[in-house]
Amino acid sequence: MENLDHLRGALIEEVAAAADLDALEAARVRALGRKGRVTQLMKTLGGLDPEARKRAGQALNALKGEISQSIEARKAALSAAALDARLGAERIDVTLPPRPAARGHIHPISQTIEELTAIFGEMGFSVAQGPHIEDDFHNFTALNIPPEHPARQEHDTFYLPGPPRSGSGTEGGTEGERLVLRTHTSPVQIRTMQAGQPPFRIIVPGRTFRADSDATHSPMFHQVEGLVVDEATHMGHLKGTLIEFCRAFFGLADLPVRFRPSYFPFTEPSAEVDIGCARADGQLRIGAGGDWLEILGCGMIHPKVLANCGIDPDKYQGFAFGMGIERIAMLKYGMPDLRPFFDADLRWLRHYGFVPLETPSMVRGL
Ligand code: DAH
Repeated sequence: MENLDHLRGALIEEVAAAADLDALEAARVRALGRKGRVTQLMKTLGGLDPEARKRAGQALNALKGEISQSIEARKAALSAAALDARLGAERIDVTLPPRPAARGHIHPISQTIEELTAIFGEMGFSVAQGPHIEDDFHNFTALNIPPEHPARQEHDTFYLPGPPRSGSGTEGGTEGERLVLRTHTSPVQIRTMQAGQPPFRIIVPGRTFRADSDATHSPMFHQVEGLVVDEATHMGHLKGTLIEFCRAFFGLADLPVRFRPSYFPFTEPSAEVDIGCARADGQLRIGAGGDWLEILGCGMIHPKVLANCGIDPDKYQGFAFGMGIERIAMLKYGMPDLRPFFDADLRWLRHYGFVPLETPSMVRGL
């Protein structure tokens, strides 16, 4: 049998020289694997006489134990070194300021909705939502726009096939059943009032649809509705709320705001709100300047609308308003055309988009 001291020295040197876990495994196989050098020697034991086999067997077992130990020790050292290296490579400095995502931008519609929500949220409004597919009752009739009312013509409504007719129903289903893509966010007034009891103080930002398309109209656009109902809500509250909103949204504490009498079927009295502006050299500037720009519709909720929702108009009254989100975004951010809002053109989005981490708030600014 070969000199075991020599073999021990050679194998321990190989183990010590293994530079990583793979090399260490190769060294283990060469020593203790099925065809390894120690294993081969074990196989020769059978040819020895009993006394010699006993001695050689003990010596080989001792050698095997030593080699195994040195492999384990080396393995522990290599694993620790590998972990150290990984920890070193993956170190992050948590004291660095966050890096804003370099590519993504917040769409101006999302940004404007965040701004509206921040302003009205601070006034105590909460956000409500409703379905895009509405029935005729919620979109029109309950809002005091009965069939044949001329206001319906102004809405360029997209009609959808109604629900299946039930036997003897009127031709085409009843008006209340006919489905439309909602032409305004006002049906959410109805749904909110039907679902609860006053007081209500909500805004409803959301998508609306009308069959109309040019530089200032898109078949899909956004509105925000407002609804306040309580026992003593009056026109002064309406005016205060909307003046405050306009000044906060445009960031102009002295922005002129005026209320001009108007007509909506669901409010009485009704008004349109204009903000001050200056038009010079083809430029539009928001602020004091002698000119006026219409930005929203509003009014005291018509008693019939309250009654349609099961709210007692002798006990409760309130105000509502509605405005186009694209329109106020275009005015605030100087965007000349409505169409690119929905073109998904990255050049436009990079130019007009907003940094994701700068969430609008009344405290940090809009
Ligand atoms: N729903 C109206 C529209 O789409 C906007 C509107 C006007 C909503 C007056 C209101 C309101 O709540 O009071 O043209």
